[in-house]
Amino acid sequence: MNLFDVYPLNDITIVKAKGSYVWDDKGEQYLDLYGGHAVISIGHTHPHWVQRIEEQLEKIAFYSNSIRIPLQQQLAEKLGKVSGKEDYQLFLCNSGAEANENALKLASFHNGRKKIVAFSKSFHGRTSLAVSATDNKNYIAPVNETDNVIFLPLNDEQALEACFKKNGKQISSVIIEGIQGVGGINVAENSFLQKIRQLCDEYGAVYIADSIQCGYGRSGKFFSHDFAGVSADIYTMAKGMGNGFPVAGIIIAPHIKPKYFQLGTTFGGNHLACAAALAVLEVIEEEKLLGNTATVGFYLREELKKIPQLKNVRGRGLMIGFDVPEELKDLKKNLLFNQKIFTGEAKPNVIRLLPSLALRKRDAEQFIEAIKEEVAAPSNSPKGGEQASTQSQLV
Ligand SMILES: Cc1ncc(COP(=O)(O)O)c(C=O)c1O
Repeated sequence: MNLFDVYPLNDITIVKAKGSYVWDDKGEQYLDLYGGHAVISIGHTHPHWVQRIEEQLEKIAFYSNSIRIPLQQQLAEKLGKVSGKEDYQLFLCNSGAEANENALKLASFHNGRKKIVAFSKSFHGRTSLAVSATDNKNYIAPVNETDNVIFLPLNDEQALEACFKKNGKQISSVIIEGIQGVGGINVAENSFLQKIRQLCDEYGAVYIADSIQCGYGRSGKFFSHDFAGVSADIYTMAKGMGNGFPVAGIIIAPHIKPKYFQLGTTFGGNHLACAAALAVLEVIEEEKLLGNTATVGFYLREELKKIPQLKNVRGRGLMIGFDVPEELKDLKKNLLFNQKIFTGEAKPNVIRLLPSLALRKRDAEQFIEAIKEEVAAPSNSPKGGEQASTQSQLV
């Protein structure tokens, strides 16, 4: 049997990983500023995370949600404390798309409405409702087409007000990434998030903060929406939550009440996933990773801004993007094959940095030196003749 060929691959086989570094099967070391697409939060194979998972594996890995799983309650309490959302309620699932699917569905159960407001360049996942709220026609199959999603330009308060005036009580939810990831690192302005909060309150709509890529400390605050000083009704999270162990969840404001069977999952919240997620939060707290993210992220952005060829350096914390001009179109490939540094990209010309929140300043310095070298002497193909396929927007 062959694999279903939907991913353009780099010809690299990673066999080992530690902290912000990975090694291939030839022993070559790479600096990982991509984190497997923003997944590695506390660093690859963090010893505490490994130990927590190993210990749990020896006891019990899985049982379904038909029995008490105290680890879920421990996780809820820890997440409430670290995120500052102690009065919210946690529902656990397995992936980002599933988290958004549950959030959109729950909003609709809550207010009995059908319309969803989403924004240009949004990405919310590949499943039915999540992909319908994603602004990329290539991902939407005919079966996912719906009139229920209204797309508006990001950060356009007038368009948002007009939309609420027109559709008012039909709008079930507004779903927004605090910082768009796949769309190219576009920051939602504080005043825009405040306007969403105000209009959702006025019209009884549910504010869903897609924090799957920009959340879990990546922006330097636990949720990037925190910068605006507003609370969403539902936050969705995945990626960094398990540091590579598949676990996702939504947290739900207290005014939205649960009803039996509205949401459900077989694997969500299993013992092993909870152990991994607890380990991540323990390390975030213990190692003060939010502070590190803000400091190292600031350093990176400031240094990148000094490189004249790189345009529009943007982002928050360790979620950073910049535009590269046409003559540097191979920059990402060259960083990978010449400098042995993984970065991410967003089509057509954006490089994205999504490293571990534990990235050290000296790793950031290594990257700055490397990118300066590549920018000073751009080559059209990687040195050494590697077969570099274009790694596109893997999500
Ligand atoms: C903002 C955002 N939402 C949702 C998703 C979907 O997550 P998953 O791939 O785990 O389904 C992603 C994945 O990249 C994302 O970046």
